[in-house]
Amino acid sequence: MCGIIGYAGYRDAIPEIIEGLKRLEYRGYDSAGVAVITDVGLWIEKREGRLSRLEECLNGRPQACIGVGHTRWATHGVPNDVNAHPHVDCQEEFAVVHNGIIENFGHLRRWLVQKGHVFRSQTDTEVLCHLIEDCYQGDLVEAVRKAIPYLEGSYAMAVISPKEPDKIVAIRKDSPLMVGLGEQEFFLASDIPAVLSRTNRFYVLEDGEMAIVTPTEVRLSSVDGNEVHKDVFTANWDPVQAEKNGHPHFMLKEIYEQPRALRDTMRGRIADGRIDFSDVQLDLFLQDVRKIFIVGCGTAYHAGMVGRHVIEKLARVPVEVDIASEFRYREVLWPENSILIVISQSGETADTLAVLREAKRRGIKVLAVTNVVGSSVAREADTVLYTWAGPEIAVASTKAYSTQVLLMYMIALFMAGQRETLPQEVITEMVKELTSLPDKIQQVLECSAEVEAIAGKYHRASSAFFLGRGLDYMIVLEGALKLKEISYIHAEAYAAGELKHGTLALIEEGVPVISLVTQDDLQDKMVSNIKEVKARKGTIIGITKEGMTKTIEECDEVITIPDTDQLFTPLLSVIPLQLLAYHIAVARGCDVDKPRNLAKSVTVE
Ligand code: M6R
Repeated sequence: MCGIIGYAGYRDAIPEIIEGLKRLEYRGYDSAGVAVITDVGLWIEKREGRLSRLEECLNGRPQACIGVGHTRWATHGVPNDVNAHPHVDCQEEFAVVHNGIIENFGHLRRWLVQKGHVFRSQTDTEVLCHLIEDCYQGDLVEAVRKAIPYLEGSYAMAVISPKEPDKIVAIRKDSPLMVGLGEQEFFLASDIPAVLSRTNRFYVLEDGEMAIVTPTEVRLSSVDGNEVHKDVFTANWDPVQAEKNGHPHFMLKEIYEQPRALRDTMRGRIADGRIDFSDVQLDLFLQDVRKIFIVGCGTAYHAGMVGRHVIEKLARVPVEVDIASEFRYREVLWPENSILIVISQSGETADTLAVLREAKRRGIKVLAVTNVVGSSVAREADTVLYTWAGPEIAVASTKAYSTQVLLMYMIALFMAGQRETLPQEVITEMVKELTSLPDKIQQVLECSAEVEAIAGKYHRASSAFFLGRGLDYMIVLEGALKLKEISYIHAEAYAAGELKHGTLALIEEGVPVISLVTQDDLQDKMVSNIKEVKARKGTIIGITKEGMTKTIEECDEVITIPDTDQLFTPLLSVIPLQLLAYHIAVARGCDVDKPRNLAKSVTVE
């Protein structure tokens, strides 16, 4: 995710900013830049690639006491020097760094161009510079305030201008921003660890709050100009915790980021109770589709399985889903008007890429679902839907999975609208429920301590089994993958109806059997399977919906999730499964973020 640093104080600003940016490197980035105010105007340097490339350009840099810096993770526009932040207006009088997404940037850009503004980059951020230039009438704070009502989307931004060389003006909405309070120096940072070596005292800005930061003071106000007073937050974190924003591992941090990741992935893609993919013209892409193939590896394949279920159910289009490494060596029969959806967090997985290339060679249109702008999959597909999960550092995929599943729902609902396979009122209701899921996930995350206690009891197991039916089966596949990947416990997921066909022979006293029961119409069947396991003295760890009492009564341990549309339970039920794998791995002393023998991105066959 992008990172912002600002400095106002008595030290040389550029080294301070670079130091802060280095501490944000863990978030992932593809380019970086810095801007400071000098006697002769703005001095800006920015480069695609690692921070070291930027540092190489800093010989001969000016001394300054106010400046801003940024690490960019591309969203709008490929990673290159021009699209790197800071961005400037026509006259190069306002430099802006920005995290987040300006949803209506296309409209704003056209409007500003009509007014005579000249754009240099492909970014959404650049509209902020021109908008502030347009609104400026001798007061930078006022100009930023005037610009805000034009904006739809999320932003944490910081602006500097040689017209008012003593200040940084910063504001946030739906993207984090803090002001670090040093001794006669102040910092802006998109997270606390970035400046923890200088101060552990912070103002944490809330949505709609502005900070006016000078070398001698910080003033806080609301966007409409009212003064804001807030408590200072003191971060008593050690350096290792700090890098993970207070969490002991990246995996846990990423599990907790899921509500935000889902909100970002929906942002700008829902309007009037409908899914809106007009920015990528998905209506044309999907118009005459008669069959869909979905392909991915590991977790991405599991997301594809949910995709098949929901697209077939809601949009009534036949879908085939397969593992990329199998699909590429099959003799696939592509009916006329088939399309391929490839799912890949990294966008670089060798097998997935090979399938994409083969499909294109055969003239099949390809839609990519990926998390990395500018990745091979994104570049080579005909159309891309990005999951805005932000960089995923832990090898075990969590937030990428849930955003991939979310996009599967969104594609299914979009197609249901296009094909009129569901009444619009039903779609509107489902879209509304979809938007409530980030809050419900937040609620589920509160079960972490309960899950940890369960993990404490069962972490010495040598095997674990996972059972589910229907959609729940697809989610237990993911739960078992998480557990084996990071805890090295032998874990297998089964469609519960298959128990009697062989697996039951493996159940003996004390074997943990994680049973997922969220589908109302399948509850009775699942309860029978649970009884079969209990009769062999297996231990049932149940994950079920509040109110599913028949299941709850049968479980040795139970975690419940809130009620939601039956089709959407995967986004809630996967959370306890991720947490269970995480806490078991921690209890076993495993290297959670870097499990043995595995790489984050599998770029070879
Ligand atoms: O980058 P991709 O989504 O293409 O990666 C696919 C798999 O390698 C990945 O999902 C893997 O299964 C995860 N480590 C599982 O947590």
